[in-house]
Amino acid sequence: MDKLIITGGQTLKGELRISGAKNAALPILAATLLSETPVKVGNVPHLHDITTTIALLGHMGITITIDERLNIEIDTQSISRLEAPYELVKTMRASILVLGPLLSRFGKAHVSLPGGCAIGTRPVNIHLDCLTKMGAEITVKNGYIHASAERLHGTHLVMDQVTVTGTENIMMAAVLAEGTTIIENAAKEPEVEDLSHFLNCLGAKITGIGTSTITIEGVEKLQPKDLFYKILPDRIETGTYLTAAAITGGHIKLKDTHPKSLEIVIKKLRETGAEITCGDDWIELNMHGQRPKAVSIDTAPFPAFPTDMQAQFTALNTIATGTSIITETVFENRFMHIQEMQRMGAQITIKQNTAICEGIPELTAAPVMATDLRASASLVLAGLVAKGDTIVDRIYHIDRGYECIEEKLTQLGATIRRVPH
Ligand code: UD1
Repeated sequence: MDKLIITGGQTLKGELRISGAKNAALPILAATLLSETPVKVGNVPHLHDITTTIALLGHMGITITIDERLNIEIDTQSISRLEAPYELVKTMRASILVLGPLLSRFGKAHVSLPGGCAIGTRPVNIHLDCLTKMGAEITVKNGYIHASAERLHGTHLVMDQVTVTGTENIMMAAVLAEGTTIIENAAKEPEVEDLSHFLNCLGAKITGIGTSTITIEGVEKLQPKDLFYKILPDRIETGTYLTAAAITGGHIKLKDTHPKSLEIVIKKLRETGAEITCGDDWIELNMHGQRPKAVSIDTAPFPAFPTDMQAQFTALNTIATGTSIITETVFENRFMHIQEMQRMGAQITIKQNTAICEGIPELTAAPVMATDLRASASLVLAGLVAKGDTIVDRIYHIDRGYECIEEKLTQLGATIRRVPH
């Protein structure tokens, strides 16, 4: 397993291009299953989770062509298996996203149950309940979800909890269902919006995009002509680099990004003392060499503060001036990075889903272990401001969600290198 070694103490400076959003690319690649004609997708990030999704589509017998610009063309005409096997699903929970489209278009799907993961139990009961209400017959046997339906029918659904992939799965299922589906309490994340726009480009009829009530009028088939769709920029990657610059007192400009999807993160970074200016597709952050001020955050579904930025802000708060309170309301077990930060000297106390952090001037380097994707990123950020060499182990998590992180941080002046195991 590769490791990252970060020598702390550099101030980040320079410009960087942001990649396409992982959490938009995953459902959009799954949604190509709904199209009878080939579709091309661009700005796809080069990430391990994308490779897994391509392997999953390949396993189904789908023809995938990748050109020199890394645009991906997907042609589902050759599909031969309606299945997502455990071997692939266990490495990436988002594989559950093929359930809705397979069932809706082909009337059948066998998808391995995702199982637990480091940040909590993460059940899929809402996905299954809603599909059942749309007429699917679902059994769970030997660790697999077996779903079938002659044709799904539209219905009025109220989701018990806001779920991102749940909303996406049901939206994709509803596109080819008979009649109209209304999803209430739907997720409003920008990646859900991007998927809705993509589905409409395929020929779907979705309204209420970006609101908590989404209406999908079912259509018979989707046969787009020469569709090329460019994926939204990654707001979490953007937020991570902005936080990396803020934690080091730096000055950076991020290009090819989407400031509108990051309003709360930008607001919170301004509270730390950062000067931030934005254009339509760029963000510039200048910390003027100052140590950040502590900021309290409460995670919740969009447009509130994203849980996927909680760990990075925790890293920032460890070296900020003042005390902060970090409350995690989306996942029950998403503080595992804190134990590692404590090993670097961070002064944090956890009380249930709240962490109280007393900022100190400097962390001390230590060997630390990444437990999930965003936790890994937060440990890299902590390493940027720790005295000495921080070794981050198990970085395969990082490669699931950050394209060339060490190259990008090096471009900004960080001292970071990957050591193969
Ligand atoms: C997605 C994102 C992930 C992000 C999360 C929350 C992708 C591929 N992943 O994950 O990066 O951290 O949203 O913004 O887009 N829940 C249930 N039953 C269900 C479904 C969810 O109880 O059937 C609960 C979950 O346990 C969790 C909460 O709902 O506590 C939100 O989870 P959800 O939005 O579904 O997360 P994901 O879609 O898995």
